[in-house]
Amino acid sequence: MGNAKCGDIMKIYLKISDGVIADVKFETFGCGSAIASSSMATELIKGKPVEEALTLTNRAVAEALDGLPAHKLHCSVLAEEAIKAALKDYYDRQGIACDPAQFPDRAHCEGCGQ
Ligand code: FES
Repeated sequence: MGNAKCGDIMKIYLKISDGVIADVKFETFGCGSAIASSSMATELIKGKPVEEALTLTNRAVAEALDGLPAHKLHCSVLAEEAIKAALKDYYDRQGIACDPAQFPDRAHCEGCGQ
């Protein structure tokens, strides 16, 4: 999978109803830590208002997992970025104005080459 972008290895699908995240699904082709991070991130935002989901940090994901080894912390960053990309997509589709600075560029995974 060489130089695939993280957007290719981690995708988050949101079902949003009345501004609340009713359901979340994920698809992850990264390492075990990336899968655990995606799963935890979906649990953390389910049932939350969109604005609150946008404040989710990779640190919160890692803490909810009782920590990740330092060399795997970036896997939780992928989860945060995937959530934010899905939320940006929602804002764009709904025509809701938002601050682009809230949505980081998605990086490659240097750890596993994904
Ligand atoms: Fe975890 Fe690349 S996604 S090491």
